[in-house]
Amino acid sequence: MSVAIVYGSTKGAAASVAELIKNNFKEADLINIAKATPDELNGYDGLIIGTSTYYDGELQDDWEAFDKEALELNGKKVALFGVGNQKRHGKTFNNGIGILYELAVSKGAKIVGDKNPTDKYTFETSKAVVDGKFVGLVIDKDVEGDSLEDSVAKWTNSIKNNF
Ligand SMILES: Cc1cc2nc3c(=O)[nH]c(=O)nc-3n(C[C@H](O)[C@H](O)[C@H](O)COP(=O)(O)O)c2cc1C
Repeated sequence: MSVAIVYGSTKGAAASVAELIKNNFKEADLINIAKATPDELNGYDGLIIGTSTYYDGELQDDWEAFDKEALELNGKKVALFGVGNQKRHGKTFNNGIGILYELAVSKGAKIVGDKNPTDKYTFETSKAVVDGKFVGLVIDKDVEGDSLEDSVAKWTNSIKNNF
């Protein structure tokens, strides 16, 4: 099965998380959404999609600019990750991953991986939470600190057998 890790990142935080995912999932391709086309992504059997969050809880700019209408996800396996900041943006914490989740579900994707507990984080509201849990891997690098690599490795190992 062909799998791509697709990320949108302005200052490199989500890109570094995508690279850590790739370190634990070597068979997957690593793609910056800023340079991707819908046709290219439509050619994969599975996608691991991620974004940071900007503005008032919106998708990162390159995801905003991407032609999401043309993305075909029906029946496709999709896992999700997001990067944000709880301290400064606790009312829209990691909304971006939630927006990608809604997009994927609305297009008929099969979301893979268990939902994740929110315990590690302190925030008011987030579109990343569905039924009391995060819809994928949610990262705040300030909170993760030295445990970032371990957290990403653990999550990647937990989802990779679904692809
Ligand atoms: C103008 C601005 C708005 C932001 N808005 C949010 C937000 O609504 N929610 C959130 O969780 N993080 C927010 N952030 C934090 C970024 O998502 C965070 O710094 C992230 O690490 C950036 O990742 P990137 O370098 O991959 O783009 C915002 C940051 C900036 C500069």
